[in-house]
Amino acid sequence: MPDRRAPLYYADYIQLDRLLDCQRLESGRRGRPAHDEMLFVIVHQTYELWFKQVLWELDAVLASFRQDAVPEEDVGRAVSHFGRIVEIQRVLIQQIDVLETMTPLDFLEFRDVLIPASGVQSIQFRFLENKLGVRREDRLQLHDAPYTSLFRKADRAKLEASEKEPSLFDLLERWLERTPFLSFGTFDFWREYRRAVDRMLAADRRTIRNNPTLTDAEKSTQVAGVDATARRFEEVFGAGAAPPPGPGRHLSHRALQAALLINLYRDEPILHLPFRLLSLVTDVERNFTTWRRRHAQMVLRMIGGRIGTGGSSGSEYLEKAAARQRVFGDLVELSSFFIPRSALPKLPPKVKGTMGFRFSGRSRAPRRRS
Ligand code: HEM
Repeated sequence: MPDRRAPLYYADYIQLDRLLDCQRLESGRRGRPAHDEMLFVIVHQTYELWFKQVLWELDAVLASFRQDAVPEEDVGRAVSHFGRIVEIQRVLIQQIDVLETMTPLDFLEFRDVLIPASGVQSIQFRFLENKLGVRREDRLQLHDAPYTSLFRKADRAKLEASEKEPSLFDLLERWLERTPFLSFGTFDFWREYRRAVDRMLAADRRTIRNNPTLTDAEKSTQVAGVDATARRFEEVFGAGAAPPPGPGRHLSHRALQAALLINLYRDEPILHLPFRLLSLVTDVERNFTTWRRRHAQMVLRMIGGRIGTGGSSGSEYLEKAAARQRVFGDLVELSSFFIPRSALPKLPPKVKGTMGFRFSGRSRAPRRRS
């Protein structure tokens, strides 16, 4: 028990003794110590500590976005939280390089003693997925059983409870749906935007048809590509149009429109912070996928075509999981609906005025809530 009157001591503060006393090597316990198992344990523990920090940041965002109206300053704070998460994810991706200093033969020295434990049982990783919004139906099943079946009973209950909480996806969708500026009084943004898109697509078709270097067959193929783009745009224009089904593609139509508007008019001061928030959320999603792929490649190098210690098909399972377990696919692919800034409908001065920074020394402007 540290003496409360004594000055704070570094090792006590970070509980160094406990921290350094929790690397137990299973190979040693079984009488065949493998040198590289220390690295394996420390890398996993480091991951779990970073996961804890990421969850800490994410929980702070979820708490503020659970409010009926998110105060403006909380949007700025969420940007900072996500900025930190993104930097941590970079470390998580890079850390695989450290683990890869262990060769496949070194890993084989202790791999079998790990069975049936596996990273699939990382409860914090699953919390992260649930809190971000990975849905049960989008999960790749292992052994034809729910992912929770790999956990102890108490952990299973915690995971099921975390699925019942509104996820970042749910809260962000609601926040986007509440975004003002989707209708601007008499200025019909969507009608104007549709005209701008039609003009852009018509120009694309003209450019292809007038290109003397293309054969007729090549022109038909390229025009068919523009037609496919036109059909894709219907996802944002068609009232109530359903996005194509699939993992990570289930954002509501209204939320999709709001996200698009925020991206297109990101230079307007009031939309800049929401734009940064959306960009960071897509960075989080991309980094997550990058980690999954990088982990899958590392697994291929480490165990080849072998099955994993958790009993999956190994790298094949992990590659499939990377493709399926997505959340913000609609945001990642939003650029499909972008048009050049120069072609964007001009906002009427009245609308533009409401989106700018205004300061009056005479009266305090009421705080905007979204
Ligand atoms: C030599 C190093 C590693 C190998 C060979 C390896 C292998 C595997 C395999 C084969 C799986 C699929 C499930 C199974 O059958 O076991 C898996 C899943 C997983 N591993 Fe690793 N892993 C390694 C390192 C790590 C590290 C350092 C972490 C960091 C926490 C990690 C986290 C995970 C997670 C979260 C999953 C579940 C992924 C999902 O279901 O989408 N693994 N690992």
